[in-house]
Amino acid sequence: MNLRNAERIALITGSNRGIGLEAARQLARRGFHAIITSRDEAKGERAAESIRQDGGKVTFLPLDVSSSESIRNAAGRFGTIADRLDVLINNAGVYPDAGVTVLTVPRDRLAQTLQTNTFGPLEVTQAFLPHLRKSDGARVINVSSGYGQLEGLSADEPSYCLSKLALNGLTIMLGQALRADHIAVNSMCPGWVRTDMGGPGATLSVEQGADTAVWLADDAPHNLTGKFFRNRREISW
Ligand SMILES: NC(=O)c1ccc[n+]([C@@H]2O[C@H](COP(=O)([O-])OP(=O)(O)OC[C@H]3O[C@@H](n4cnc5c(N)ncnc54)[C@H](OP(=O)(O)O)[C@@H]3O)[C@@H](O)[C@H]2O)c1
Repeated sequence: MNLRNAERIALITGSNRGIGLEAARQLARRGFHAIITSRDEAKGERAAESIRQDGGKVTFLPLDVSSSESIRNAAGRFGTIADRLDVLINNAGVYPDAGVTVLTVPRDRLAQTLQTNTFGPLEVTQAFLPHLRKSDGARVINVSSGYGQLEGLSADEPSYCLSKLALNGLTIMLGQALRADHIAVNSMCPGWVRTDMGGPGATLSVEQGADTAVWLADDAPHNLTGKFFRNRREISW
């Protein structure tokens, strides 16, 4: 696969299911070449095939965002098939706080959650930066949560809330650091979405949940950077 003549290229982490897969599907419908990534190759290939069946252009790359080696390999392989990356959506995430509160959460649970939800997006952004810099106005979208808002923090979801609060902090810092490179970096909250994570009782469809990420990837004014969005509107930290 050679993407050197592709129109626009978007890579989405954790895109074998849920909001990530839907964002990839919507971007492919808009003409992007979607790079589906997943820590499980078979699931990732299956997800990519579903977009191909839909008429979209898609390539699969293995990527476990909690592993530095996997991130390095993915960025290296990407460089052999594409000459730039236009959109990076840091979507992969875990929600592992069942049965604990801020009074009981073990330190290793905090570390594991931040490895995936916070340090993953940072290291993926760092590794793909050479490719993002080659785009004419790249965009990075961090899929965060209302649980990461200062007024949304919950003692019952300790590691998840801290991981998304810190992810929002990264959005602010990366927005500053990449302004000179003309790379926009924003956080978004998808709302409460019917996925494996959100459960069947959630209020929003997966199409609605992916909408603001896709808007930030394609439609939002490029000078919006270092901000937090839900329903295509800026929200408070
Ligand atoms: N659903 C909601 O209501 C909601 C609300 C607010 C924010 N969010 C955020 O939206 C994002 C997507 O959530 P979702 O609802 O689509 O959840 P989901 O259906 O549980 O999907 C999560 C995705 O992340 C992947 N993932 C987990 N750990 C990974 C790792 N180490 N490396 C690579 N991929 C990994 C999963 O892959 P596997 O299949 O291999 O596990 C899966 O593809 C998350 O960041 C979540 O925090 C969701």
